[in-house]
Amino acid sequence: MSATTASTTDKLLEVRNVSKYFGSVVALSDVSMFVRAGEVTCLLGDNGAGKSTLIKILSGVHKPSSGTYLFEGKEVSFDSPRDALEMGIATVYQDLAMIPLMSIWRNFFLGSEPTKGWGPWRRFDAKFAKRVTREEMKKMGIDIRDPDQPVGTLSGGERQSVAIARAVYFGAKVLILDEPTAALGVKQAGVVLKYILQAKQRGIGVIFITHNPHHAYPVGDHFVILRRGKVFGDYTKDEIPLEQLVQMMAGGADLEALSHELEAASRATGSKEMAEAAAEFQRESTT
Ligand SMILES: Nc1ncnc2c1ncn2[C@@H]1O[C@H](COP(=O)(O)OP(=O)(O)O)[C@@H](O)[C@H]1O
Ligand SMILES: [Mg+2]
Repeated sequence: MSATTASTTDKLLEVRNVSKYFGSVVALSDVSMFVRAGEVTCLLGDNGAGKSTLIKILSGVHKPSSGTYLFEGKEVSFDSPRDALEMGIATVYQDLAMIPLMSIWRNFFLGSEPTKGWGPWRRFDAKFAKRVTREEMKKMGIDIRDPDQPVGTLSGGERQSVAIARAVYFGAKVLILDEPTAALGVKQAGVVLKYILQAKQRGIGVIFITHNPHHAYPVGDHFVILRRGKVFGDYTKDEIPLEQLVQMMAGGADLEALSHELEAASRATGSKEMAEAAAEFQRESTT
């Protein structure tokens, strides 16, 4: 058996032919993808492609309307994000759920505070929490001078890294990152990409959502391109050069934008030709 057709068990997380309907809206149609331990699968696609819907299924927020979800080779069905988290599927959302005025160590342990003592003597073990925070950040290659520093004083990239370190410390096997680099400048995005590689090297399966092929390519092992709820492309790194990935992303965005403009113009002018042209571009952008 070759490396590319390895057995299912070697896939940490996999969905097969997953569809999701919201009433009459088809958000996802027949989507299959997977991630292996120690690999990065990049999920690319423009706005409305279905990226968030897919990660909400993976993280237990939504149930798929149809299709199969496998974790470590076994079929699973999650009733809540907590179910997914307990299996080791951690999702870091763009807004991060951190409290800016609270210290780094408090944020690190938010919702799972380590305690010392028993009954009325039970206390938050701050010393332990500070030590772990410092150690875990160090493992990600960040030297925090002062764990008491408010999280709000960290840069955007560093804050993402706290969220990643936290997920890793609490036992994530799969780390899902929803557009972690979207709001960041080039340098800060580079910082986050470094932590993605760090997590990969520690054996975690990373699902990295982005619409930027330049961020995806340097860290990705596998690229899944979504368009209008369908898998438009699925490549390993050696199957696709960066230029082609860029072209596929740009092509989709351009055609979509053009089709929307033509649609609006045809409505405004009542022109049948424009409506037909819009439909034509729409078809092209989906095939
Ligand atoms: N809760 C919902 N109810 C109805 N439609 C939804 C819902 N969530 C997403 N959609 C629709 O599904 C499609 C995919 O959206 P989404 O997954 O957010 O895309 P992306 O994250 O790639 O921008 C869009 O057409 C969106 O309007
Ligand atoms: Mg989204």
